[in-house]
Amino acid sequence: MQTIEQISILRQTINEWKKQGQTVGFVPTMGNLHEGHLSLVEEAKKRADKVVVSIFVNPMQFGQNEDLDKYPRTMQADSKALIQAGVDLLFTPTPETIYPKGLDKQTWVEVPELSDLYCGDSRPGHFRGVTTVVNKLFNLVQPDIACFGEKDFQQLALIRTMVEDLSMPIEIVGIATVREGSGLAKSSRNGYLSESEKQQASVIYQNLIQLKDQLNQGNKNFAQLIIQSKQSLTQAGLKPDYVWILDSHTLKPATSDTQSIVILIAAFLGSTRLIDNMLVELIA
Ligand code: PAJ
Repeated sequence: MQTIEQISILRQTINEWKKQGQTVGFVPTMGNLHEGHLSLVEEAKKRADKVVVSIFVNPMQFGQNEDLDKYPRTMQADSKALIQAGVDLLFTPTPETIYPKGLDKQTWVEVPELSDLYCGDSRPGHFRGVTTVVNKLFNLVQPDIACFGEKDFQQLALIRTMVEDLSMPIEIVGIATVREGSGLAKSSRNGYLSESEKQQASVIYQNLIQLKDQLNQGNKNFAQLIIQSKQSLTQAGLKPDYVWILDSHTLKPATSDTQSIVILIAAFLGSTRLIDNMLVELIA
């Protein structure tokens, strides 16, 4: 595996692959890799001749009071895992390489409306940071396909919208969420939790399952279901940020006619913000 920090060398390597007719698969990450990330890599390997992974803790997507400085950086272990996974190129730019003029002078890309809802409402500017950096990374890597986790359901929807709206010739592949035995979705932020807190956090998954069961049983009192779920999260010692029951295609609140539902949950355990979601296909 080649590890590259500089844009010029990255472009040169990728140009050579393209000249040879090789396809490129891309997995953007912020590092501190776990099995969730590695499942994206595995899928990219199946779908492309060469696989590029980026590790970049993107300052533009962190709010003022968020965990940018303490976000876990584990480059050595990540690099080892990516070699084992058979990755061809690891791109590890510095913030100065990505934002040479600084964040304030950086051109940005933003998907209207959806960027301001749900996680975007709780984390103003977050999705602008995500779409801007992913756009920039796409321009650098020029992948044929790129893999993103369904774990970040809203992020995946925004990337799909950006790619469609800006006519980018890239296939976006969504990958199912990888979970702990307890059901807790794997996340770099789980590292902030003790073992007992991780167990406590699995109540998010249990809530998703309970909501799914209720929806499958024909319960369409979404407002009531949301209240119950928030109460259950609170009782377990979490602080719910939101619970939404949405149309999985439009990401607008579900109505009694909606068949394809996604439940989104965000909750704090202490100062750690956790998100998860679940798709529910109702049979007409
Ligand atoms: P990061 O949180 O490192 O996640 C990188 C990719 O891994 C994302 O597509 C995310 O959805 C996926 N992922 C995370 N946990 C997962 C799990 N348990 N199962 C499956 N996939 C999982 O998401 C980001 O970084 C950043 O916002 C990024 C897109 C890199 C832009 O900076």
